[in-house]
Amino acid sequence: MPRIRVEVDGATYEDEVEPRLLLVHYLRERLGKVGTPVGCDTTNCGACTVLLDGLSAKSCSVLAVQADGRSVTTVEGLAPDGDEHPLQRSFHREHALQCGYCTPGMIMASADLLRENPDPSEDEVREGLEGNLCRCTGYQNIVRAVRSAAAEMRGSEVAS
Ligand code: FES
Ligand code: FES
Repeated sequence: MPRIRVEVDGATYEDEVEPRLLLVHYLRERLGKVGTPVGCDTTNCGACTVLLDGLSAKSCSVLAVQADGRSVTTVEGLAPDGDEHPLQRSFHREHALQCGYCTPGMIMASADLLRENPDPSEDEVREGLEGNLCRCTGYQNIVRAVRSAAAEMRGSEVAS
């Protein structure tokens, strides 16, 4: 079986993996990173989104072997020193979740969005998160939470 070496949430792992093993299953079943859920079997929902070398990726559409030599950040590694990330705080503050199933993926996709665009408009947030589905919230509070976190990260007030 192929052997991979991958950095996940700041720790390095070396494992033998089946060539067909999906990254999301490697994360959950081998590493116990169950903060990254599986929400569909069609690569549509975005619940499984992680950062792969800093860019958002649906971990159900990547093979574990494709992560060899690369760095993965899951929602569990977003705030390595124990403090919550501004996005984690803002999702809580703005009531941007109900069942929470989409939330890890929303937060990771938002982290990538804010890396590219630190001051997104409402439309830009909606466009940036179009690969992430939420069945509960109607998205309005998610958009508000992302813009609120963006403002916090820029050190300014969010315009309403
Ligand atoms: S579980 Fe990956 S997109 Fe739905
Ligand atoms: S909060 Fe339930 S799917 Fe988004």
